[in-house]
Amino acid sequence: MSKKNYIVGIDVGTAEVRVGLGEPRPDGTVNIIGLGLSPSDGVRKGVIVDLDKTVASIVAAIEEAERMAGFKVDSAYVGLKGLNMELINNRGVVAVTAEDREIRIDDVERVMQAAKVVALPMDREIVDIIPREYIVDGFEGIRDPVGMLGVRLEVDALVVSSLITSLHNLLRCVNRAGITINGLILQAMANSEVYLSPDERDLGVFLVDIGSGTTEIALFQHGKLQKMAVAPIGGDHITTDLAAGLRINHFNAEELKKEYGSALISNAESEPKIEIKTVGSNELRLVSERELTSFIEPRVHEILQIVREEMIKMGWPYLPPAGLVLHGGVSSMNGIVEASRHFFETDQIRLAEFETVGVQNPTYSTVVGLLYYVQRYQPRMFVSEVSKPTKKRGPGLWQRIKDWLTDIVD
Ligand SMILES: Nc1ncnc2c1ncn2[C@@H]1O[C@H](COP(=O)(O)OP(=O)(O)OP(=O)(O)O)[C@@H](O)[C@H]1O
Ligand SMILES: [Mg+2]
Repeated sequence: MSKKNYIVGIDVGTAEVRVGLGEPRPDGTVNIIGLGLSPSDGVRKGVIVDLDKTVASIVAAIEEAERMAGFKVDSAYVGLKGLNMELINNRGVVAVTAEDREIRIDDVERVMQAAKVVALPMDREIVDIIPREYIVDGFEGIRDPVGMLGVRLEVDALVVSSLITSLHNLLRCVNRAGITINGLILQAMANSEVYLSPDERDLGVFLVDIGSGTTEIALFQHGKLQKMAVAPIGGDHITTDLAAGLRINHFNAEELKKEYGSALISNAESEPKIEIKTVGSNELRLVSERELTSFIEPRVHEILQIVREEMIKMGWPYLPPAGLVLHGGVSSMNGIVEASRHFFETDQIRLAEFETVGVQNPTYSTVVGLLYYVQRYQPRMFVSEVSKPTKKRGPGLWQRIKDWLTDIVD
């Protein structure tokens, strides 16, 4: 297959690194041809704490996707969760250069560059500029000015900046995994394009991604991202509570949580029929779903409380007209929608529907969202750091096994 014919997305999450390989279809959808997954050992609460382990996770996930697709990849788009991100509204203005006064792509590029001029502290760098609307000779609300006539082109843009250290650690890990970075994409932007309807984004909606180590709250209104916040709390805290409450190890707590856990104690059965083995004892004990859930429900409540506090900070003490859409691993938990509806006292809460883009396993929902976003918008790279691989990736697993066998035979 020609190398031009595919898109690669990488989502470095707290729980897992996922890689998606897609082939753009002419109808605007993406044919998924490779998926890869690896436990994310070097990430805590959305922050890379161990570069080597993260590089190894990225390489493992890429190799899995490559094996599925049947070819090697050398570049990718990387998703960013809104941790340490800041959004600034800025306006850029330029004069239209063509003699016939027709606005060309060059003018749009220049006006976006003009919008990029913002005073940033030394420890921040621009990762993206999202146009909200263009203004041609004072006429507002224009989505695509190319081809229009005018003398003055303005853009109202959202400038996204990130703390340099956390961003560069991520870039470095991807580069050290042998991958050139084509562009950085805010996961909230990608997910909103794929999992929210244009009407929802117009009316006003919160997209809440409850992951393993972080919860991201993004507000969309008038068709655009308006505000974003990330709290360092997620499903891993629920697992830790369960492990401490039942005195079981973290691995077993994670398994039990996914299989029997519920966000609502009122839905849980009280018959003790789940076998657990407590730490330091060889005896098995039976617990009920109700007992299990008694350690889960309070933490879910706390997460929802934090979501509400962030909403209030954004000026929304109640939900906007299109309500709230849940995304991320914890949205797979039994009873989470019911618990959230109860908490926010409204029915305007739903789950993101991954099946619409052919996602069977929700863990890949963000990475598939990235592929769709790239197919639609072909985002550019803003970060100044050279995004070239710092070393070549070694041979794939099969090659390594072959080399090893050859060594033995020799
Ligand atoms: N069926 C389920 N019930 C309960 N929790 C679940 C279920 N499936 C996944 N989770 C939880 O979701 C979390 C993983 O979510 P996700 O994959 O979105 O995180 P991540 O993207 O790796 O992390 P982050 O976005 O915070 O960096 C884990 O805590 C996991 O236990
Ligand atoms: Mg995530």
